Amino acid sequence: MKAAITATAKYLPPERFTNFDFVNLDTSDEWIRTRTGIVERRFLKDPTKATAYMCSEVARQILDKRGISAEEIDCIIVGTITPDMFFPSTACLVQDSIGAKNAWGFDLSAACSGFLYALVTGAQFIESGTHKKVLVLGGDKMSAITDMQDRNTAILFGDGAGGVLLEPAKEGYGLLDYRLYSDGTSGKDHLYMKAGGSLMPASHETVEKRLHYIYQDGRTVFKSAVVGMAEVAAEIMARNNLTPNDVVYLVPHQANLRIISATAARMGIGMEKVAVNIDRYGNTTAGTVPICLAELDEEGKLNDGDNIVIATYGAGYTWGGALVKWQKSF
Ligand code: UT7
Repeated sequence: MKAAITATAKYLPPERFTNFDFVNLDTSDEWIRTRTGIVERRFLKDPTKATAYMCSEVARQILDKRGISAEEIDCIIVGTITPDMFFPSTACLVQDSIGAKNAWGFDLSAACSGFLYALVTGAQFIESGTHKKVLVLGGDKMSAITDMQDRNTAILFGDGAGGVLLEPAKEGYGLLDYRLYSDGTSGKDHLYMKAGGSLMPASHETVEKRLHYIYQDGRTVFKSAVVGMAEVAAEIMARNNLTPNDVVYLVPHQANLRIISATAARMGIGMEKVAVNIDRYGNTTAGTVPICLAELDEEGKLNDGDNIVIATYGAGYTWGGALVKWQKSF
């Protein structure tokens, strides 16, 4: 028995910031659009709200759409690198917020692959037969860890969250295949947040040196991501004997439109089959894939039996791909 996605939802904060809001950083709308594909992004400006709030909003919508109560949820998994705090987990904060008192849960850290890792992890509990309803959420308040004075990173990220409900699938449907990868050896030095963990706890010095913000060697990460994401998407197709015609949608992580286009080209599919919202939301890290899924679903674009390929690449490095056969009725 596989795990089917039986509901989707997304939450984007209302505050929009266009590329023109960054021109004081010696950048331009033209540079940002052509190098990344980003036009605007959302930042959650309410200082009393963070990732758990966005994920709880997603969870509430999912319960509503599926017409179930919070007590029916068995497990909550949250992919995030911007938890409200190190502990308790975002999953526990979401549990409290929605009243899922029969659930257990945990956070999962895999940066831009966080949602995909969480999706695959959640599916194992369904496949084992021990769980009937698993909430898988992915969200990040990237503005909390982005140096708004650094043009290399400030323009890239946004805040947002998305999620899905996993339930036992009908025969032949659901999460049919996946490949997950990590390569700390190649990745650990090129995309990280240096301070705030147990190695370099917060101090006056770490704050002065701006070490609580994302550092990215964009060019190096780009070179790995553009190959890694394309290859894993092609691998998923090959393992499942899918031709370009068989793929209905590619749902890729939204870090850079050029990486997304290269992945589509490697798969042999046109951009009309690719979920793209980087222009509106930027890179929401663990939020990108479930937000894309929710948009396709809300727009009524997902039909019974559609083959959806998910592909991600991010800090770690962590990357992966998955094949979901969409189940429309339950
Ligand atoms: O989601 C997790 C994984 N992350 C990714 O997949 C991101 C991968 N990397 C990228 O998407 C791209 O590398 C970036 C969008 C971050 C940068 O684009 P790029 O085409 O790789 O530019 P670059 O880093 O090679 O920089 C080219 C030039 C540099 O100037 P010099 O050294 O050639 O004089 C940068 O300083 O562009 C400069 N630059 C900018 N110029 C205007 C960097 N950021 C900006 C900016 N505005 N915002």
